[in-house]
Amino acid sequence: MWGGLYAAGPAAIMEEINASIDFDQKLWRQDIRGSLAHVAMLAAVGVVSKADAKSIAQGLQAVGKEIESGQFTFSRALEDIHMNVESRLAELIGPAAGRLHTARSRNDQVALDTRLWVRDTIDQLIAQIRELQGALAEKALAYADAIMPGFTHLQSAQPTTFGHHLLAYVEMLGRDASRLVDARKRMNECPLGAAALAGTSFPIDRAMTAKALGFDRPTANSLDSVGDRDFALEALAAASICAMHLSRFAEEIVIWTTAQFGFVRLSDQFSTGSSIMPQKRNPDAAELVRGKIGRIIGALNGLLIVMKGLPLTYGKDMQEDKEGLFDALSTLSLCLAAMTGMTRDMEPQLDRMRDAAGAGYATATDLADWLVRTLNLPFRDAHHVTGRIVALASKRGVGLEELSLADMQAVDQRITKDVFGVLGVEKSVRSRTSYGGTAPANVRRQAQRWLKALAKTKG
Ligand code: ARG
Repeated sequence: MWGGLYAAGPAAIMEEINASIDFDQKLWRQDIRGSLAHVAMLAAVGVVSKADAKSIAQGLQAVGKEIESGQFTFSRALEDIHMNVESRLAELIGPAAGRLHTARSRNDQVALDTRLWVRDTIDQLIAQIRELQGALAEKALAYADAIMPGFTHLQSAQPTTFGHHLLAYVEMLGRDASRLVDARKRMNECPLGAAALAGTSFPIDRAMTAKALGFDRPTANSLDSVGDRDFALEALAAASICAMHLSRFAEEIVIWTTAQFGFVRLSDQFSTGSSIMPQKRNPDAAELVRGKIGRIIGALNGLLIVMKGLPLTYGKDMQEDKEGLFDALSTLSLCLAAMTGMTRDMEPQLDRMRDAAGAGYATATDLADWLVRTLNLPFRDAHHVTGRIVALASKRGVGLEELSLADMQAVDQRITKDVFGVLGVEKSVRSRTSYGGTAPANVRRQAQRWLKALAKTKG
């Protein structure tokens, strides 16, 4: 491509470090889409003839078909996807192919292709997040009254329901999707036409290519257009946060499926056995979701580090944006699919969860609240009285509801038998009707709200 100046080819090691075709061939669809828009515009403004534009467009379509069907031979000597496509175009249509690169550079071309890829991938990730939210909301609706312990510090805190717990993830995922929506909006400007860095003297119509490629507008500064990758960083940041949420859920599945917890069972489809211990049912998919976040956050860090010292505008360092980006977003897609599968598959073990919810004095707060409501104690005093009652029950090795009224009155005389009305886990859960609280009626309403909203996003 630059034989005008260069007499000798590159050293083998130069080709090795320079070539990106092994990974950027993933951008072939975007590359062809961008070139088609570019050549249509060049023809519209009269920079290339209609006849040449037509033959270039047909040639590009033919190249696309070859790549799609696996007949295309990618060449490392041609460095990257842009030059591989252009060179094949020249073989197919002859010298007219040389006109495609008018008023364009690989710098704006790669900025465009990568943006298009990220945009396409964001759309797919958002759809997958909605899918997972749907699976969670359906389970939540089905198990709105399934009592389980709620934890802080992984210590039993207050009873909640399985449905309420799952809806917590629906909320997190809702924000994850909205972060991707935001990133998409901000990145939806077309860099094509910035050319190498300074723009071009050809009378191009950047609004036309922007529109043809589904962008809101062309980018406003040519140096920025070829020199920044913050659109990729934002997608990676949003992906990292989403992956963090998935990883927490995965961690809970790992805990819940232990023999010690036994809150949830995964079917054979989402468990693996051990080659030595016949009794094992390992939640490998959940562990992998928990583990794979490392590569996603790694890609975010990697690209931040690549970019942080680069003077404007383009530097070849920026070719290092791709592998991490491709891997991270594909990995998130895989993790979302795996979590959706596990969510649909998992069966809560209702008795185990309910028993555990009653253990650990989880209704102590209900007792304290009763003391406040019925005896008008200040909450701090009620907390103290309750603490003494819990200590007594713990010394006897019984639950709060198993203490006698006399035992309770020994701590505070004013307590009446009505107190037993609030000590059961069902009552505790049903009483938490504050907005966003754990009461089954709330949970059902929230699950239905989500299912309705999600159905709309599908339409
Ligand atoms: N393969 C390059 C990349 O991914 C394309 C841009 C090359 N531009 C250049 N001036 N060498 O960044």
